[in-house]
Amino acid sequence: MADATPRLAVLASGRGSNLQAILDAIDDGRLHAQVAGVFGDKPRAFALERARAAGIPARALRPGDFAGRDEFDAALFAEVASVRPDLIVCAGYMRLLGAAALAPWAGRIINIHPSLLPDFKGLDTHARALAAGVPEHGASVHFVTADLDGGPVIAQARVPVLDGDDADALAARVLDTEHPLLVATLQLLCAARIVLRDEVVELDGRPLAAPLQLASNRLPA
Ligand code: GRF
Repeated sequence: MADATPRLAVLASGRGSNLQAILDAIDDGRLHAQVAGVFGDKPRAFALERARAAGIPARALRPGDFAGRDEFDAALFAEVASVRPDLIVCAGYMRLLGAAALAPWAGRIINIHPSLLPDFKGLDTHARALAAGVPEHGASVHFVTADLDGGPVIAQARVPVLDGDDADALAARVLDTEHPLLVATLQLLCAARIVLRDEVVELDGRPLAAPLQLASNRLPA
């Protein structure tokens, strides 16, 4: 992936602030990549508007128009494949992906999840972190497998949980750290420094003993 400009396809269901962070990083030269297409399951998602405003093809399919999840996934991934991505980035894509759709993309599809995985897989992570009383929370970027939020973790960013936090305050603090985390992880992936080999994340050819801790937009030396 390191030679030609890496092509990204982004999957998004909502407001698309992580997509915007990617677009901004490409624009100002921090990320050597291009977003070849943005795809989703919600035709009115603001993420699609952000893509179109940047001149990027954007398309949402409606799950209700398909017989089931596998049929929907197959149609969506046919759209994704049509832009010939090197890497698929799930950035706030809120539907489960089935094993059949994922199989051809193993090691080439990542997701950003708002918790320190393996803690708090699934939804409502911020409220659940508060209810559990953890002192620290954060976000993780991981390779996607059919195991929901269970694929190998590449990198994490941590934030403190503060007295008086509610779920919205904590979500905002995590989101601020998601954007640099996602960009920094993409820098490593697009430079082919991170790869998934036999379900193990490797950095520069060596297995990662633990997820990278990317507190700021600083790459490992
Ligand atoms: C982020 O918190 C992401 O981690 C989660 O969904 C949210 C999407 O935010 N998967 P945005 O659409 O990128 O603004």
